[in-house]
Amino acid sequence: MLTDNHGRKISYMRLAVTDRCNLRCFYCMPEHGLDWLSRTELMTNEEMLQICSLLVKMGIEKIRITGGEPFVRKDIVQLLTGISGLNGLKELGLTTNGVLTAPYVPELKKIGVRSVNLSLDTLDANRFFTITRRDEFSNVMASLDAMLSHDMEVKINAVVMDGKNTQDIIPLVELARELPVSVRFIEEMPFNGDGHVYDGSHWDYVRILDEIKGSYPQIKKLDDPAYSTSYNYQIPGHKGSIGIIAAYSRTFCGTCNRIRITPQGELKTCLYDDGVLNLKDLMRKGASDEALQDALLTAFSHRPADGWEAERARVAKTGIHESMATIGG
Ligand code: GTP
Ligand code: 5AD
Ligand code: SF4
Repeated sequence: MLTDNHGRKISYMRLAVTDRCNLRCFYCMPEHGLDWLSRTELMTNEEMLQICSLLVKMGIEKIRITGGEPFVRKDIVQLLTGISGLNGLKELGLTTNGVLTAPYVPELKKIGVRSVNLSLDTLDANRFFTITRRDEFSNVMASLDAMLSHDMEVKINAVVMDGKNTQDIIPLVELARELPVSVRFIEEMPFNGDGHVYDGSHWDYVRILDEIKGSYPQIKKLDDPAYSTSYNYQIPGHKGSIGIIAAYSRTFCGTCNRIRITPQGELKTCLYDDGVLNLKDLMRKGASDEALQDALLTAFSHRPADGWEAERARVAKTGIHESMATIGG
């Protein structure tokens, strides 16, 4: 079993395959002035597969593909096919914005991707445009339909933003009345790519739950699966469930089993850290799997205890100017 210096199991890797995205959600990236990574800075499919293969041998059981938006990468299906064939991998998931996803759904099913997390912050087409700065609401809803009609497990991710979409909380809860989806409300984090100081206390997990309880006093707490990022709830009579992710309050760091690889091959041992090791650079210098493994184990033995410690170390150096699209969420 792979563990860190705090005795936490490491079994879940999030791989961001591109920094590019076909939306411009304001909580994630600015509309203009983005410096995209060049093709040579991005990892190739072969490099990503080598990293996945090594980490699965070391103990990773679950891989989630993220971005940017994974489907803007043209060779994504080949990568998914390669990863799904890795011996020892128990789960392959994907987080997508749903703009291009619908036509891929049958293929995803065939490859073995059973669960997809879909980013959707509102059910109102106008507000969708305001938040994402793109007119793609109908394509996202078509992807949701396609996933459900192929019996995929779907989680909907909605970032709760003060003054922007709090009126969508109850309509999104209502979506789980008829659809077997988990609607998860996420505290906004400071990774918006423009470095503006963010006060995460506006809509924290307690306030989000209070808001939902106001309309559904009968809401019941569910048992949370091991390593869950969300507190999970059920409203009697609803087909789906509700989740709340305390991403900013960071209440789940004590059981954090996650590592991240950015599109340029940087390892993050915490979402809030600055990147601790560049695997792509090591690979391009000809490092053997053994050398990569040693470097990874060293990094895992220096993990911060929680996101607060990681953030403090980072803010002291550079502050947070990063976009979620370059981290993968
Ligand atoms: P499952 O694998 O389905 O449990 O999903 P997940 O929550 O791991 O992944 P998803 O990509 O759907 O992320 C949902 C939200 O949770 C995003 O806003 C993530 O940034 C946030 N999140 C995921 N992992 C972490 C983490 O380790 N720390 C913090 N603070 N937030 C996280
Ligand atoms: N705060 C919280 N969540 C965010 N995401 C993107 N940017 C932020 C942010 N600033 C979420 C997206 C996606 C997930 C991977 O990360 O909504 O569902
Ligand atoms: Fe929106 Fe996700 Fe793209 Fe960011 S990476 S702009 S959250 S779809």
